[in-house]
Amino acid sequence: MVRHPSYYKLFVYLCVIYILYALVINLVVHPGAATFLSHKTDLSHELKPQIWLKVMYVHVAFGCLAMASGLVNFVSRNYEKHRKFHRVNGYFYTASVFLVVLSSGYMAPCATGGRVSSVGLNVLSMIWMAVTVIAIVHVRKKRIVQHRRWMVRSYAFCFTNLLIHLFSSVLHQSGVDYVNSYIIGLYGAIAVVLAAPAVIFRVQGKL
Ligand code: HEM
Repeated sequence: MVRHPSYYKLFVYLCVIYILYALVINLVVHPGAATFLSHKTDLSHELKPQIWLKVMYVHVAFGCLAMASGLVNFVSRNYEKHRKFHRVNGYFYTASVFLVVLSSGYMAPCATGGRVSSVGLNVLSMIWMAVTVIAIVHVRKKRIVQHRRWMVRSYAFCFTNLLIHLFSSVLHQSGVDYVNSYIIGLYGAIAVVLAAPAVIFRVQGKL
């Protein structure tokens, strides 16, 4: 696979900055998620804030661990030399994805935007787990190129939260109300995480 060094380095820096930002903002600066929770009105499921917050911490922690471990496996240049590490780290990534999906399953029924958001988030979770398992099946059958491609597809889902907040804050700043910004941001994020890998493969093929 051809790498364009400057884009590649920029991507690594952006991932590291986002991981640190997500950890600090959600676990240190706003550990009570008060603003986010204040928009949850009209819920069809009862929200228990203390449990929700604990699940959210697990969710954020493993989301960031998935991002970090995935990044490490993509950047490690000498794969042959660090084969065992790559494998262990890869299973750690898969376990982290599973825990993000599990915690997402708890939070989704109370998602901002109600049922329309819950359905999108649950579908996204199922696709993410399936894509990750497909990547593992490929490597177990020694199909390395397919493994790498499916792992790129899987890794794209790590950007869900970043994209939701990016789209929804632009929309909200432009005057759309918070809940509708969130719903549109969510479906925009789903479209990007599903489409981006195909675009990356096409661009890489031309480099
Ligand atoms: C891997 C990177 C991810 C990080 C760092 C992350 C982080 C967060 C954070 C901080 C929240 C709390 C609310 C907010 O500020 O948005 C949240 C909520 C949530 N996330 Fe994630 N997330 C990630 C990926 C995902 C993925 C891939 C899914 C689904 C497949 C997901 C499903 C959910 C759900 C269902 C909620 C609750 C939404 C709500 O209450 O409206 N997250 N996430």
